[in-house]
Amino acid sequence: MAPLEIGRLLARVRRMGIEIGRVHFFPVIASTQDEAVRLAHAGAPEGTLVVAGRQTRGRGRVGRTWFSPAGAGLYASLVLRPPVPPSEWPVLSVLAGVAVVEEIQRLGVTQARLKWPNDALIGGRKVAGILTEAFPDAGFAVLGLGLNASFRGVEVPPDLAEVATDLETHLQPGTDLNEAAARVLLAVIASYQRALPDLRIVPDRAGRLLWTAGEVVVGGVRGRVAGLTPAGELWLVEEDGHAVAVSVGEVTDDRRD
Ligand code: BTN
Repeated sequence: MAPLEIGRLLARVRRMGIEIGRVHFFPVIASTQDEAVRLAHAGAPEGTLVVAGRQTRGRGRVGRTWFSPAGAGLYASLVLRPPVPPSEWPVLSVLAGVAVVEEIQRLGVTQARLKWPNDALIGGRKVAGILTEAFPDAGFAVLGLGLNASFRGVEVPPDLAEVATDLETHLQPGTDLNEAAARVLLAVIASYQRALPDLRIVPDRAGRLLWTAGEVVVGGVRGRVAGLTPAGELWLVEEDGHAVAVSVGEVTDDRRD
């Protein structure tokens, strides 16, 4: 399989006909997220995209770091200026997660699942993550996508190797990895454009993608994952059958058997 090469990937993105804004490419950067936030504060328009070959301080959700060596992944941050009230912005994360998982499934990896709110898993291991940061007072949000494209020839730290996987491992031989990664990125952009002006997800469609371990704990609520609301909240059914929609938190696998 051809290795991931950001220049080729961007060329494919441009050819796919979905409207994107100016692309700022950095062979090396601390974090595309930080750069996109900086550009947005300086007035960068909606659709501005920051992409890097590698990151030296890639950031994940809840203060984690994002493994970002050269050739291993797609590291991209997109400036959005959603024309909807900031109260609706939280759905952006789930919308993007759904788009990533759907596109990975379309690439033939039917076992891809969404671990709410926006982790893409294959076989229970993380293949992509999304970091959404909102600056409602400044009128923008930045959506960061980290996709583990290919770990071939990459020294993956042992603790990460246990919980992560790369897309290449699961693609049909002969699949163009650059094309595949470009498609995932474009799917995120396209799903946002299609969702406007509503920023809603389609619960029936998105709910089918959910990763459902036995019991999980989210924001102190223990239950079984049962679906999504149009606003991207997660339905949990507690032991007594009571359904609760949670809007923030981290899904912790809490299987007791
Ligand atoms: C997660 O924790 O799952 C979210 C990971 C988001 C990583 C991406 S890589 C591109 C962008 N720049 C960053 O520093 N982080 C995001």
